[in-house]
Amino acid sequence: MKLLVVGGGGREHAIIQKLKENPSVETIYALPGNGGIARDAECHPIKATDIPAIVDFAKTRKVDFAVVAPDDPLVLGAADALEAEGIPVFGPKKNAAIIEGSKVFSKELMGKYHIPTAEYQVFTQLDAALEYVRTAPLPAVVKADGLALGKGVIIAQTREEAEAAVRSMMEDKVFGESGSRVVIEEFLTGPEVSVLSFTDGETVVPMVSSMDHKRALDGDKGPNTGGMGTVAPNPYYTDEIAQVCMDTIFLPTIRAMKAEGREFRGCLYFGLMLTPKGPKVIEYNCRFGDPETQVVLPLLDTDLLTIMQATQAGRLRELDIRWKKASACCVVLASDGYPKKYQTGYPITLPPTGENDKIYIAGAKLDGETLLTGGGRVLGAVSVRPTLREAIDAAYALADGIHFENAYCRRDIGQRALAARKED
Ligand code: AMP
Ligand code: GLY
Repeated sequence: MKLLVVGGGGREHAIIQKLKENPSVETIYALPGNGGIARDAECHPIKATDIPAIVDFAKTRKVDFAVVAPDDPLVLGAADALEAEGIPVFGPKKNAAIIEGSKVFSKELMGKYHIPTAEYQVFTQLDAALEYVRTAPLPAVVKADGLALGKGVIIAQTREEAEAAVRSMMEDKVFGESGSRVVIEEFLTGPEVSVLSFTDGETVVPMVSSMDHKRALDGDKGPNTGGMGTVAPNPYYTDEIAQVCMDTIFLPTIRAMKAEGREFRGCLYFGLMLTPKGPKVIEYNCRFGDPETQVVLPLLDTDLLTIMQATQAGRLRELDIRWKKASACCVVLASDGYPKKYQTGYPITLPPTGENDKIYIAGAKLDGETLLTGGGRVLGAVSVRPTLREAIDAAYALADGIHFENAYCRRDIGQRALAARKED
């Protein structure tokens, strides 16, 4: 089979390596891929958002199955465009990807179908939003409606910060049209859990839970990033909580989307907060999380391509999807200065890896045979071990064997999860 994977980060590298485990896979094309992915797939320099070029490529190369991984092409309708040409796709259609593409849509969906989430107000007028934050409870959570590269959420501790957040989105348009509507919501507290799921619109199969570390610095300090590391499973997510989430969040969401005529097929990501009043939805993503995928897929014991094909074809309930009874940790090595200013173009040296260790490349270019850093997040060092503690130690040992100038990583990935564990 010839597969196409749209995207070019660490998440896509993890997906591609997992897809390659299926013996029927002859070729994987990655658009655009990256210098590290080029060792596992044939990369072509087509942007993930250039939908006409992607469709054209898929037709010319007679691709049998496509996976669209990032949010922006999905929200723009990449799955619709490929399927219109008869190419089966793992990834939701545009009318379902809106669950991530518009926060107003997702909040209204949750309101209508009684899915637990933070209380909120929607504003389309600057004056009304400013008036509201003058008396709103603090901290106030201000969110741009549309996609904003994971940066569209501001937690304002003071009225001045809340006003500045509203102005930056609605007046200065720092996120472009994404900020023409804003959601201002109640601040929730509690541990965060990421649950990715496979769903064909009828059946929902949650994957192993995980915990992201979004802030740049140790102790969850510094600016928000795309994610500095992950562990799986997330020890806060007990079997009991999983059942509550299935009954009050996962199934109601899938059914709500179907009832709205927006059947969701693909990976639906539930960003949850375990509040004192029970689990609530912080956000939905219409795709695999990054770097959650880098710890979740190595724990998957069932063939990924088979699952993706069943998801696309609406046959998910026929499968028995299994997970390894182990833990995984991903330590992201970034360019020092990320997420603000940083330098790239430095050679990367990688150590040999064992079967239970993976290095997923996120931002790198190939210069001949040499891999050069090419992004803020450069790679993820991932280890799978019987216990969380062993997985963390092994991931740091792996990360410490990787070298490039100006490499930076958090040193406390997994520590909160370890502290939350009852046994080890
Ligand atoms: P997002 O970009 O939607 O992933 O949000 C970024 C982060 O903001 C989340 O991971 C949470 O830590 C935080 N956040 C978002 N909404 C809320 C909320 N209502 N209450 C508390 N924290 C929130
Ligand atoms: N790690 C969070 C996300 O992928 O949105």
